[in-house]
Amino acid sequence: MRPEDRGRPYDLVGARPEAEFEISVDGVPVPVVPGQTVGAALHGAGVRSWRLTRREGRPRGLFCGIGVCFDCLVTVNGVPSLRACLTEARPGDRITTGEGDR
Ligand code: FES
Repeated sequence: MRPEDRGRPYDLVGARPEAEFEISVDGVPVPVVPGQTVGAALHGAGVRSWRLTRREGRPRGLFCGIGVCFDCLVTVNGVPSLRACLTEARPGDRITTGEGDR
């Protein structure tokens, strides 16, 4: 079966997620399926890195995806250094990247 014949992943399992909403990431709207983490929403939007390491300026985003590596830090509604992979996105959240994060 070709991927385009399978329909949406939700259809495969009979899921009926609530309506999507948006969060703001550095002023850019990003769609979120209820229950997604900030990291999952960014990944779903095609964003693979959102901060740079202090010393060498290397890009960082999701790495472990389970809260261990701290590579995915973001600021959510003014609260700095939250792990995007563990932080559930809420309607209207304002995410900023880069500042205040290690
Ligand atoms: S991706 Fe490793 S802590 Fe979030």
